Amino acid sequence: MRIIVAEDRVAASQCAAVIVEGFVRDQRRASLGVATGRTTEALYAELVRRHQHEGLSFAGVDVYLLDEYAGIDPDDPCRFRSVVKRELTQQVDLRRDAVHCPDPDAPDLAGECCRYEHLVRSAPIGLQILGIGSNGHIAFNEPGSAFDSVTRIVTLSEQTRSDNADFFSDGRPVPGRAITQGISTILAAAELLLLACGERKAAAVARAVHGPVCEMVPASALQLHSSATIVLDPDAASLL
Ligand code: GLP
Repeated sequence: MRIIVAEDRVAASQCAAVIVEGFVRDQRRASLGVATGRTTEALYAELVRRHQHEGLSFAGVDVYLLDEYAGIDPDDPCRFRSVVKRELTQQVDLRRDAVHCPDPDAPDLAGECCRYEHLVRSAPIGLQILGIGSNGHIAFNEPGSAFDSVTRIVTLSEQTRSDNADFFSDGRPVPGRAITQGISTILAAAELLLLACGERKAAAVARAVHGPVCEMVPASALQLHSSATIVLDPDAASLL
């Protein structure tokens, strides 16, 4: 596992952007896995800047979302598909049909999970961008998720719902369920890039990097991957 501690939060996003840019520039067709959250927002802004000012093209890229809330209105701006569209995909030159995500409105949710698992596996993902939850989750794989888990419906922990409550600012409840890629789905990506910033993530990062590999710390599964990079700001690295 390669760990990079950048000078500050901005430098951490730039450092992650350099890695994503290298990946995108390297190939004619590329499958990029994307996460959502406060942390990745700055990374996507930096990628958009590189597209607008430095000729970084996403024309050959397909984007795959990690997860999506279930039981959320199709027009809800908090829907991860809308978030990724707003922050990244509609601001770069991706093809119209290049954004893929699980559909929480599918009548057969179990079938939809199988469809998405198959789609992601056959992509296959070249670089997967990840964040980390304050409880050590990756995507929506909460503590206790099996390392051999695949795309499925999960129940969100109270911790995760309270961490994400700010996004639902007008008092709407945070959905209690989601569709998420499993840990084994994520580990199948050729390369993993986890970005974490802020003191709130320090304990989870320390457990993921130095703690035992265990299912109570989903991000510790990165220790099992042969090509995982963790980019941190000094606050997130403070307990390493
Ligand atoms: C959500 C997402 C994760 C993300 C995490 C961290 O729960 N499902 O993929 O890594 O939030 O988000 P933030 O960057 O807002 O702390």
